[in-house]
Amino acid sequence: MNYKVMTAEEAAAYVNNGDIIGFSGFTPAGCPKDVPTAIAARAEAEHAAGREFKIGMYTGASTGGSLDGALAKANAILFRTPYQSNKDLRTRLNAQEAHYFDMHLSHLAQELRYGFMPKPKFAIVEACSISDDGKIVPTSGVGILPTICRLADHIIVELNAAHPAELCGMHDIYEPLDPPCREAIPVYKPSDRCGKPYVQVDPKKILCVVHTNRENEVGGFAAVDEVTAKIGKNVANFLAAEIKAGRIPASFLPIQSGVGNIANAVLAELGANPDIPPFEMYTEVIQDAVIGLMEEGHCKFASGCSLTVSNPVLQEIYSKLDFFKERVVLRPQEISNNPEVARRLGLITINTALEADIFGNVNSTHVLGTKMMNGIGGSCDFTRNAYISIFTTPSTAKDGKISAIVPYVSHVDQSEHSVKILITEHGVADLRGKSPIQRANEIINNCVAPEYKELLREYLAKAPLAHTPMNLDNCFAMHKAFAETGDMHNAKF
Ligand code: COA
Repeated sequence: MNYKVMTAEEAAAYVNNGDIIGFSGFTPAGCPKDVPTAIAARAEAEHAAGREFKIGMYTGASTGGSLDGALAKANAILFRTPYQSNKDLRTRLNAQEAHYFDMHLSHLAQELRYGFMPKPKFAIVEACSISDDGKIVPTSGVGILPTICRLADHIIVELNAAHPAELCGMHDIYEPLDPPCREAIPVYKPSDRCGKPYVQVDPKKILCVVHTNRENEVGGFAAVDEVTAKIGKNVANFLAAEIKAGRIPASFLPIQSGVGNIANAVLAELGANPDIPPFEMYTEVIQDAVIGLMEEGHCKFASGCSLTVSNPVLQEIYSKLDFFKERVVLRPQEISNNPEVARRLGLITINTALEADIFGNVNSTHVLGTKMMNGIGGSCDFTRNAYISIFTTPSTAKDGKISAIVPYVSHVDQSEHSVKILITEHGVADLRGKSPIQRANEIINNCVAPEYKELLREYLAKAPLAHTPMNLDNCFAMHKAFAETGDMHNAKF
């Protein structure tokens, strides 16, 4: 190998206050670990010496504790985009100690190329192999790796021996041309490949290689419980009924499934339903449940941006690489989440809401309208362009003190125009072809927790007669009741 080999600390010494860095990976899968931790240590040393040290950062999505966690703890983040889910980082950005702007994941790479945001000086990327002529093979997540390597002045490669070089062949790296030269992305089914199995970079830009041997930092998933199992069953039964009614082709359509515990539980229930045929996925994160479904034959193929699986499941994949390389493809997020491809394939999209309102607007990001939870991730990329878009949520949160269905959402991520189906553990609200008042009745009757039904009916009864019966004086009364008394039941309309 012709490249300079450095320690993480030596590589981090090149990074200065105010520098902008692009990191590879998507979720903790595929993210560098040692160099970001060394940058965080450098920031702490600089702060201790009374000097400023913060970096601007672009990632694929959320990252691991050694990246977002370490940099947030060191208060070393000037600005950051897109999706995050780290507790320490969440605390920093809700305290306005780091500027965070939430973006559609499919937009990030192209907006960097368009020059909408400053280009990164460094690309710090994790690889399972690198050739002397600059062919980088990513590990278990891709994210924005190709674009940051194209735009950055310097590339630092963390060569991680925990990921086998034989992973080569699982990736499909395609970067579209920018308008006015963009062409159709030639993906007509989830398993189509249109790019290369590696990222070609200019070898002269590679500043150094840092050797490491570190496992991914993906946390486990919560076990399926009574509520998430019921939600999953409702999703599966709804889709089976749609096939029976001829509204979804009998051969079925590819599935996109969101992040988190609920999404993981929903997928497990889809696999368990005998009326759902074996399916393909065109999604962003491939979570634990998908791998089990693949081994059982319920999931035939998955296209995604990352293997966001727990470490035992990743080892299972690596021990059967030939099997999984035939069934999994990992793409950059601008392709895994691409609206053009989502619309063409006719995706059934299943994402999770924090709260929804009686008209079908969805909030997936802001607790009580103000505190950032994680971000929109790819939920809007998929929802807006779905064949049929589904949102799931438990009907209540915080031991029933919060109703997930409210008169009006405290923040809008998905509007009523994009959300077709809402599902809780109590049932399914089919919002297709319904006016606002019809949607409100459908949601209250089918999805709201029994103890909140009367409250929401009272709100609706007292709202002004209009196309959208919304009362501007008290549409947030349930949120205010929770903020002031700790319980939405105390709302007065
Ligand atoms: N108000 C306040 N808090 C709420 C709430 C509400 N209406 N609804 C849920 N919560 C809390 C839960 O109590 C839980 O809190 P805890 O961490 O303190 O226990 C937390 O939100 C997460 O809820 P959980 O039930 O564990 O759900 P999850 O792990 O499935 O995550 C989202 C749910 C919405 C946070 C997550 O799916 C997300 O970030 N989505 C947005 C991005 C996205 O959809 N990406 C996929 C696109 S491909």
